[in-house]
Amino acid sequence: MAETARNIGGVSLVGSGSATPKQRLTNDEIGLRVDTSDDWIRTRTGIASRHVVGLGESLTHLSANAGQAALDMAGWSLESVDLVLLATSTPDDLFGSAPKVQAKLGLSNAVAFDLTAACSGFLFALVTAGQFLRTRAMNRVLVIGADHLTRWVDWDDRRSCVLFGDGAGAVALEATSYEQDGLLDFCLKSDGSRGDCLTLSQVDSFNSLVNEKNFQTGGFLPVEMNGQEVYKFAVREVPAILQELLSVNKISADSLDWLLLHQANQRILDAVADRFSIPHRKVLSNLAEYGNTSAATIPLMLDEAVRKGLVKPGHLIASSGFGAGLSWGAALMRWQGPA
Ligand code: COA
Repeated sequence: MAETARNIGGVSLVGSGSATPKQRLTNDEIGLRVDTSDDWIRTRTGIASRHVVGLGESLTHLSANAGQAALDMAGWSLESVDLVLLATSTPDDLFGSAPKVQAKLGLSNAVAFDLTAACSGFLFALVTAGQFLRTRAMNRVLVIGADHLTRWVDWDDRRSCVLFGDGAGAVALEATSYEQDGLLDFCLKSDGSRGDCLTLSQVDSFNSLVNEKNFQTGGFLPVEMNGQEVYKFAVREVPAILQELLSVNKISADSLDWLLLHQANQRILDAVADRFSIPHRKVLSNLAEYGNTSAATIPLMLDEAVRKGLVKPGHLIASSGFGAGLSWGAALMRWQGPA
């Protein structure tokens, strides 16, 4: 737990934004390519459609649009932003896409870098940004969670291709006093020993170079997933980490305004809510429209809920992200909104 880190200053969540690709792909349309059905996908996952990056769009473009919306909501001047932290596993450039986003947004004083932790990426980035703000090393940070997984999905593998979509979400975070802290606590975990059940791994082939020396070919294999193992991991670890966070902070599940989980599967959302007896109306879900957008799900969902007036200033939110790595984490947040 962040016992020492929280003694310095506070972190305020003052803006949000999101962006999704124009193309909307329905379950029935996927059924034109692989042997599946709308009924199977809805029943097992709660997903009805997903948005897929098309011509003229990109991860950088979605990230910048989401970031711009968050900047607008926060009312920040461009020169006041210190850091752009882009959580993604699917950059447009392996050297990092954050600097391109920084340039597109005109944030000339901001340093920018990518952070990779798969579907937990946004939560990990939020907590990382929080450390710069608590210590007052920085004053304003734009955290973006974005993924373009549809370019790494095997569109002929019905066990995984039905799950994923593309999108981006962003949150504007500002340093504040400890009394006004909106990032109350967090817990982050990794277990690489169990990581083989969800991978987007390198092509494992070598080519001859010179003098019997060789080099590894660049490139990645499509997403490979053992769905049942990932499901078991999620329904075991997410309640456990949330329980740990609530207990340490002496917060009862009743006092939460919202449960904001990584949007992977409606059955996972329902199972976690039931474990804490949280009514389903308090469980934020937009899975039906977007599917699993990896690092984007949490900020995309938060932004929709803020703009619909569901999440209001002062609301207490328990959030948890989980996914490949394996990685998982949870955070307790209080939404503040713009001044
Ligand atoms: N359409 C129709 N049938 C499908 C299918 C699809 N899209 N995908 C799998 N099936 C079939 C399987 O082939 C299997 O058939 P069989 O019994 O004849 O072999 C049957 O459905 C059951 O497959 P199973 O894998 O046991 O289904 P499931 O109930 O575990 O549901 C998932 C599959 C993927 C929906 C579920 O395991 C899941 O959500 N896991 C977590 C995945 C996840 O969230 N990943 C990202 C984490 S960040």
